[in-house]
Amino acid sequence: MNMKNRAAVIGTGVCLPERVLTNFDLEKMVNTSDEWITTRTGIHTRRIAGKGEENYRLAVRAGQVALKQAGISAHELSLVIVATFTPHMIMPSCACFVQAEIGADQAFAYDLNAACSGFLYGLDLADAYISRQPDMKILLIGSETLSARVNWEDRNTCILFGDGAGACVLTGGREGQGVVDANLRSDGSLWNLLYMHGPESQNPALVSDDNGGSFIRMAGRDVFRYAVKAMEEAVTTLLERNGVTIDDVCLLIPHQANIRILNKLMDRLTVPREKVYINVDKYGNTSAASIPIALDEASSLGMLRRGDLVLFCSFGGGFTWGSMLMNW
Ligand code: UT7
Repeated sequence: MNMKNRAAVIGTGVCLPERVLTNFDLEKMVNTSDEWITTRTGIHTRRIAGKGEENYRLAVRAGQVALKQAGISAHELSLVIVATFTPHMIMPSCACFVQAEIGADQAFAYDLNAACSGFLYGLDLADAYISRQPDMKILLIGSETLSARVNWEDRNTCILFGDGAGACVLTGGREGQGVVDANLRSDGSLWNLLYMHGPESQNPALVSDDNGGSFIRMAGRDVFRYAVKAMEEAVTTLLERNGVTIDDVCLLIPHQANIRILNKLMDRLTVPREKVYINVDKYGNTSAASIPIALDEASSLGMLRRGDLVLFCSFGGGFTWGSMLMNW
């Protein structure tokens, strides 16, 4: 396997909204209980964006922290990618706002929508650019304001999601460092198990019936079942293809959807809890932001050492899912 010129992380950053919404707060909003939410999802709190915390502003702050840690200026960036499905505008992209705000005057910028798998798809994309041009510096951000797209009267969904942004700066790594391989998948035929209409997805003059609002809609049980099976298969295939086992993995950083999904995944992969980074209890499901937030926390806690084999996996609307191996 050619390990030269693969994308390596040289800085990470996070920005979380200030407001914390607890399960007890939710008890006052919908017919639910802290006990139900905790046992079914493992979530205790989530962050909710307020004034001045639009998606691109969270993305900017996370990106600036990552740049600082990487020790490079925005001027040195060639590309800004924001993985999101909740941009504050459909056009221009969130990434263009970030590019302007941070002063990345040499960079091109665009958004990537692969729902909860957006950050993993973005990492793979960054790796493809860097394989071609190893000195390229890329800012990849996963940023979501899901609270704006949640129906706060629907107890099936409103308890699950949170807002936030996580970022990383990538460039060509040294020999043996960086992305090893990725196994990304999609199945658009299952779109209607987890979806969200745009504010006006179709010409209102041509469509008579209302689309019911642009909120996240989900068949929770079906999503749960597919998520466990799909992530397990994506990981197993990737490990086999690269001649490694789960024992060779130092840390698994999964998309933070639900503790029961993660528990089932850990059981099926026979990976011990201490080798898995979990923070869904604090932030809920932040979609494309969940992996980079977890990555930044794991890195800050000193859980990642040079040479460690890190495994990522995700699952989200589309359906989109996948796995990635990276040498830290
Ligand atoms: O990135 C991927 C994004 N999506 C996910 O990760 C979601 C995956 N799915 C799940 O995590 C779970 O399916 C949920 C947590 C969403 C739901 O848990 P469940 O064990 O699958 O519950 P359920 O949907 O089968 O509902 C069981 C009962 C129902 O009541 P009845 O019909 O049995 O009387 C629901 O109405 O629980 C009820 N229920 C609630 N009760 C209290 C649903 N939501 C709530 C709630 N509080 N918030």
